[in-house]
Amino acid sequence: MITNFTNSNILRKKASDLIPGGAHTYSKGDDQFPLLSPHSIVKGKGARIWDVDGNEFVDWGMGLTSVLLGHAYEPIIEVITKELCNGVNFIRPSFIEAEVAEQFVEQIDSAEMVKFAKNGSNATTSAIKLARAYTGKNLILRCADQPFFSIDDWFISDTEVDNGIPKTTSGHIKQFRYNDISSLRAQIARYKEDGIACVILEPAATEEPRDGFLQAVRDECTKHNIILIFDEVVSGFRFHPKGAQFLYNVIPDLSTFGKSMANGFSISALAGKKELMELGGLKHDKERVFLLSTTYGGETHHLRAAQKTMQILNLNDYEVTQYIWSVGKRVKDHYNQCAKSLGIEKQTSMAGIDCRPFFLFFNEKGEPDTVLRTLFVQEMIKYGVLVQGLVPSFSHTESDIIQTEEAIYHSLKTLTQAIEKKNVSNQLVGEAVKPVFRRYN
Ligand SMILES: Cc1ncc(COP(=O)(O)O)c(C=O)c1O
Repeated sequence: MITNFTNSNILRKKASDLIPGGAHTYSKGDDQFPLLSPHSIVKGKGARIWDVDGNEFVDWGMGLTSVLLGHAYEPIIEVITKELCNGVNFIRPSFIEAEVAEQFVEQIDSAEMVKFAKNGSNATTSAIKLARAYTGKNLILRCADQPFFSIDDWFISDTEVDNGIPKTTSGHIKQFRYNDISSLRAQIARYKEDGIACVILEPAATEEPRDGFLQAVRDECTKHNIILIFDEVVSGFRFHPKGAQFLYNVIPDLSTFGKSMANGFSISALAGKKELMELGGLKHDKERVFLLSTTYGGETHHLRAAQKTMQILNLNDYEVTQYIWSVGKRVKDHYNQCAKSLGIEKQTSMAGIDCRPFFLFFNEKGEPDTVLRTLFVQEMIKYGVLVQGLVPSFSHTESDIIQTEEAIYHSLKTLTQAIEKKNVSNQLVGEAVKPVFRRYN
């Protein structure tokens, strides 16, 4: 049983004194984990991580979905290390930039041109800018059921945490529902006269597209001259090495990629039709678009990591992809069987797409229950398993999965007893996790 977090607690305090939120990513913050949890990680290998107290965990977070092959995956480390010795950033592009761009446009069917950067937000924000410049229109229609597209104002202004953003910004973004084409059609009809620049959505996030939804979105966009942007920062390379757009067979005008593309190393991509992308280039006489320009966008070692990751993902009939989907399905099925056998299937279940499943917790009234969720994570940690959602990787081994399945059974048993005795809150040490998008702490 893992219960010693002495060194983590010291660093927890130091980090929260020095870093707003105690972490450089909100979803890694203290408000996202139980108090009885590791704060600081020392190293990772495969699907295992070790904290500053020497505790070992099976990691189901995998760098916020960015680490697809596994931590410190040897073939990636090898190419990165080699490139580091050649220097990483120069006065003009490295030859690797065009090499990886060529590989990328071969990999992603909708990509006629591509521009690399470091963060997904850079890519999505640039896609929005390009769509606005191309259409000369302002409004953005974004999917309401998907939690995050960018740290930039165009998106954050449409969340609970819009402090510090001019109020005029949020008027430019409207919402529609996933798998509900009538909600998109209604918004198009309502705002068409105001000028809609683009529709942005993840091709799939928490559920798969039903009844030709994505194709219907494509058709609406084509009909009304709206740019269709697929945010594939999470789905690209994880759902399929050629993107979720390939899996579901729908071609966007622009798409954005990032996580999983370089097995955790920092790279993102904006890709799409030449006609649009070239507006940020030098071969036209129209008004120019300041598209994407980052000091580190062409860093050679991260491009090499992306190149190698793409090569590995294409091997053996997409073996990596098949594996992560099967691991996710196995754990999800096990969880739901345990919940059923313990009689708490109304209080908790695992849902979602097999390569990216998530946990659901409900109170007696059927409302989302964050106390129950936090208690579950607290108990899993005791058994050496660290979860938020479930992010399968190619490195999750049979023993990692068996340890996780056992931890699930024991943790759900604790939840069952707590529910029966009506003392869920008493079992939880510290506070329940909170949503990232909230106005006040
Ligand atoms: C769907 C989606 N788009 C964009 C982003 C932004 O990516 P980044 O954190 O690399 O800027 C994220 C990050 O979680 C995301 O999940």
